[in-house]
Amino acid sequence: MASIVAPSILACDFARLGDEVASVTKAGADWIHCDVMDGEFVPNISFGEPIVKAAGRDTNLPLDVHLMIQRPDRYIEQFMGIPGVASVTSHLEANHDAGVTLDTVRAAGKKAGLSVKPGTPLDQARELFGRFDILLIMTVEPGFGGQPFIKEMLTKVREADRLRKELGLDFQIEVDGGIDAETAALCREAGADVMVAGTSVFKAPDRQAEIRAIRG
Ligand code: DX5
Ligand code: ZN
Repeated sequence: MASIVAPSILACDFARLGDEVASVTKAGADWIHCDVMDGEFVPNISFGEPIVKAAGRDTNLPLDVHLMIQRPDRYIEQFMGIPGVASVTSHLEANHDAGVTLDTVRAAGKKAGLSVKPGTPLDQARELFGRFDILLIMTVEPGFGGQPFIKEMLTKVREADRLRKELGLDFQIEVDGGIDAETAALCREAGADVMVAGTSVFKAPDRQAEIRAIRG
């Protein structure tokens, strides 16, 4: 099945944010992925609410917010209030009650996402299955774009797909980090539904062709 492609604006030219978002929208993207980093949960600071809000002005696509921040519960309301935001994902490893955060996002009518870093086994999320709409499996250490895909994460994607079937759940499996046409094909085969792609899409000479290739 063809994948959902979510270009990450982390790799775009921020001086031309509106044009960049419009460009990938026109090139066939499905979602716009927004990476929010606080310099604490990850060793990098990216952007916050004003940029996500601005990104939404030049597209009708759903905004997929990925919070790489400590205590995401403090900020979910703020991000959910931005027009166009369809999903808000926070990390299992962040300092919060992940179940409560997920419930709050769902109660607001948005898709609730749970993300796990490469070193976090799915076992640690076991009791949360059924409470999220998206499982975001990091395929690089979160914090920076442009890193190589960690192949071992394919096992985790397969395990998530197996658990989803066993438990009769229908959450989406999203992969993030080092995704290009080649690694997207591997992830798709392993059961992933949503491909986040920053560098590969924004640095591609032909963004439309790149998105098509990632979609499969
Ligand atoms: C990494 C971010 C990713 C990143 C992906 O911490 O969560 O979304 O932007 O970038 P690429 O596709 O360049 O690996
Ligand atoms: Zn991300």
